[in-house]
Amino acid sequence: MNNVPVPRAQYKCFEGTHVLISGGAKGMGRAAALLFAQQGARLSILDLDYEAAQETVEVILELGGAAKAWAVDASIAAQVEGAISEAVEHFGKIDHLFNHAGIVTVGPLHSMNEEDFQKIFDINVKSAFLVCRNVVARMSESGGGTIVVTSSISGERAFALEALYNMTKAATLMLTKSLCAEYRVKNIRANAICPAFVRTQHGLKEIEDFAALGHPWDDSALKDTQLRICEPEEAAEAVLFLASDAASFINGVGLTIDNGWCAIG
Ligand SMILES: NC(=O)c1ccc[n+]([C@@H]2O[C@H](COP(=O)([O-])OP(=O)(O)OC[C@H]3O[C@@H](n4cnc5c(N)ncnc54)[C@H](O)[C@@H]3O)[C@@H](O)[C@H]2O)c1
Repeated sequence: MNNVPVPRAQYKCFEGTHVLISGGAKGMGRAAALLFAQQGARLSILDLDYEAAQETVEVILELGGAAKAWAVDASIAAQVEGAISEAVEHFGKIDHLFNHAGIVTVGPLHSMNEEDFQKIFDINVKSAFLVCRNVVARMSESGGGTIVVTSSISGERAFALEALYNMTKAATLMLTKSLCAEYRVKNIRANAICPAFVRTQHGLKEIEDFAALGHPWDDSALKDTQLRICEPEEAAEAVLFLASDAASFINGVGLTIDNGWCAIG
């Protein structure tokens, strides 16, 4: 079977739970979906790329799990609300959310126009607001749950040629902390993952776009920072940990997944 990650940790807490993932069709979202499914969770996958989402669903079904895909532009409120309502009708209350959908734009700040600004803020920030707003309201009523939001090392550190992206990832990190501040009394934990370069469509395009501007992030450049590229499964394992009972007193953090890059420089 295609690219099915082998779980490195075993959890009993996901058995029979409903996990909703925005951007779960590909990359880290897909890897997390497959790991959650192998721990007995039922998956709702919301993604712009329905075909890829459906492929992920089919792999989960072949593994003997339960999953369903929705074609959703997560930056459009009506689509988010419609799909989440249907997902809850289908699989029951949401126990865990992985808010992952996002894009990157690489280029000098002075070359960015309002359209570039609007697009990345809609997909990275507005979508996280729309999805999390809907899900926390539901979790507050249903007794709680856990949320993992995808930020980035760019959420705390400014990288040249990624100003708009850095801004959006800082916003998603602050959204995570705000969710924690406001909803921990409702038994909701919200944490973020802050990865460096990960081998996904997004990460590889980012590396290509940097190279096109004369800033190569080839293996030797990665060697000086994160030593090697992160695999999507390595980030996905962190998602499961943060969502699990093993992280029961971890709330409002951004977990850096960078093999020490930010620690050393
Ligand atoms: N790959 C990296 O190097 C890296 C590093 C740090 C953070 N991130 C974050 O990870 C996310 C990108 O994920 P990935 O690296 O797994 O790449 P990816 O491109 O493989 O996955 C992103 C998923 O989001 C979906 N998506 C995009 N726009 C959407 C929208 N409007 N509505 C619904 N779904 C949408 C895509 O179809 C895709 O399935 C972003 O939030 C990005 O900031 C990536």
